[in-house]
Amino acid sequence: MRCVARLIFSLPYSYQTIGHIAGFIFRNLSKLLQNQSTNMKFFIDTASLDQIKEAKDFGILDGVTTNPSLMAKEGITGQKNIYAHYQKICEIVDGDVSAEVISTDFEGIIKEGEALSKLAPNIVVKVPMIRDGVKALSYFRDNDIRTNCTLVFSAGQAILAAKAGATYLSPFIGRIDDISWDGIGLIEQIAEIYAIQGYETEILAASIRNGKHIVDAARAGADVFTCPLDAALSLLKHPLTDIGLEKFLADHKKGNG
Ligand code: E4P
Repeated sequence: MRCVARLIFSLPYSYQTIGHIAGFIFRNLSKLLQNQSTNMKFFIDTASLDQIKEAKDFGILDGVTTNPSLMAKEGITGQKNIYAHYQKICEIVDGDVSAEVISTDFEGIIKEGEALSKLAPNIVVKVPMIRDGVKALSYFRDNDIRTNCTLVFSAGQAILAAKAGATYLSPFIGRIDDISWDGIGLIEQIAEIYAIQGYETEILAASIRNGKHIVDAARAGADVFTCPLDAALSLLKHPLTDIGLEKFLADHKKGNG
């Protein structure tokens, strides 16, 4: 099947659309065969328990991502408190919860990752895209510990992470756009490469800032998007919905007092 994908992607530029569609079918067919979900998941990007509970109440929440900045924002400090906080998050959410390591050397990342993975079955160890991080991703893959490779900004990094067996890959869309590059373009590139190569790593579009990012990430083939609740709820806003509702209610009132 991979040969078919390769052949399709080697077609001339005018056939690229066909290639994208075929890549999409190929990628999702592989996922279906592996019993993985093919719908884009929503992870909330926060360490706030209130925000997580609120998102859960909408019935659309599939998981949580955190990072050291988000933990600091909630005032959670000290390893004991940080680990206890992850456990609280895991009690609220059934889906995957990314917990990031602080160490940057192989031994330290392994020690932390193993400790984090023991906190709850739905913990995913978040590992930065650095030299020892790649080594650690391979170690975790070989020891059945699921991972999220973070701070990804290029297709090359995405290939390395997939080779090392990362469960999730987090390209930072918003931060790429901040430096006037193309965040969504990177998602498209990675989705195409993963389809051609048959990599199983899930693309987790991170650093999502607005509704357009979410829609574009969905079109580009992201498996997951992560953002604050406000950004996700911005999807529901449309002025014509408000104007239409106002008119429906006014008309109803005319006839019903
Ligand atoms: C999540 O995994 C990332 O750490 C997060 O999305 C980064 O977002 P930011 O660029 O808005 O800080």
